[in-house]
Amino acid sequence: MSAPRVMVTGVGSNIGQGIVKALYLAYPDAYVVGADADRNAVGFFACNAGMVLPLAGDVQYPDAVARALGDHSVDLVLIGSHAEAPRMARLREELEQRTGAVIAVGPVDAVDACIDKYRTAQRLRAAGCHYARSIVSSSPRLSHQVVQLVEQIGFPLVVKPRSGQGSRGVGIVRTMDQLERATAALAEPLIQEYLGDEDSEYTTAVLADRAGTIAGTVTMRRQLVAGTTVVAEIGDHPEIAAECRRVIRALGLCGPGNVQMRMTERGPVTFEVNPRFSGTTAMRALAGWNDVAAVVGHYLHGEPMQVGPARPGRVTRFYDEVFVPADEVAEIAATGRWPGESRPERGSGIDSLSLFGPGRAR
Ligand SMILES: Nc1ncnc2c1ncn2[C@@H]1O[C@H](COP(=O)(O)OP(=O)(O)O)[C@@H](O)[C@H]1O
Ligand SMILES: [Mg+2]
Repeated sequence: MSAPRVMVTGVGSNIGQGIVKALYLAYPDAYVVGADADRNAVGFFACNAGMVLPLAGDVQYPDAVARALGDHSVDLVLIGSHAEAPRMARLREELEQRTGAVIAVGPVDAVDACIDKYRTAQRLRAAGCHYARSIVSSSPRLSHQVVQLVEQIGFPLVVKPRSGQGSRGVGIVRTMDQLERATAALAEPLIQEYLGDEDSEYTTAVLADRAGTIAGTVTMRRQLVAGTTVVAEIGDHPEIAAECRRVIRALGLCGPGNVQMRMTERGPVTFEVNPRFSGTTAMRALAGWNDVAAVVGHYLHGEPMQVGPARPGRVTRFYDEVFVPADEVAEIAATGRWPGESRPERGSGIDSLSLFGPGRAR
């Protein structure tokens, strides 16, 4: 079988970078085009070629993606940024027809129900899953519903964007005043019951095939710093795994997905579902649960979706450094492209001193 030609988007984020790492781990010969809207994204230089794309909401986005896919004869697109999942779900058919590449993304309805945390909670409630009680309101003093929620469950409450990422804009409020200020600060605030505590947070990757049949799950208890998982303990959590399967089925998601929960007295309660690979993709690939490899096998080669099992253990995230020569930095800044196969000397002078051995992850 020939080496896969894959575009990974969001290579400036730990989501995209995790996908690239997991991909090279399973397919060392893969040809990877790293894409991102930020010209300074470091992930470009870890790939075979780099491509600056417009933001997902930009009118130029579909044509720019189509051109990039054609230029590099890409077979498969893996999404590594939050905003691109709903956009790609809508463009999937058109882009697949225009370019012949396959885009691994779920149906529009399921993706939208995940991106909007209020809709997520409503769907889970209707399906009989454990959900976080939530309301949307921008004027808490006036809203009868807000007063009711406060009376029913009391403070603290969580205020966060209805659609967000990386913990941006997420706050805990303990008084009516704080609640009013926190909701006023957000364009589309969601008020949610506060679940569990910081030591009871779990992130679970769930992988379903194109038809929505779930191939496997892996759960990690995690610690977050600034919206990023820094320590993840991989273990066996049957109650969480079973609830995650119900959640993904309730939403109708297929392909890669991620369920975030906290353990409470009523069991594991979901507060977010991501309709894509998550920030812990490389962490679980290291443990043997490589959903990126499974997605390539399934979407590209028509194999049954197969993954795992994961080795129990702890994965710790830490900082690393990479040196990129000035001319290569300047080239992508000026042209929006970092050359691929056409330039065999590509990558000369790029250097990294990985603490655990250069190239280990590849
Ligand atoms: N209802 C909640 N109860 C307790 N903590 C929450 C709740 N919602 C969010 N959080 C905390 O805030 C973090 C970010 O919230 P999340 O809904 O996952 O948004 P994001 O899309 O930014 O990741 C969570 O990982 C969790 O630690
Ligand atoms: Mg989250």
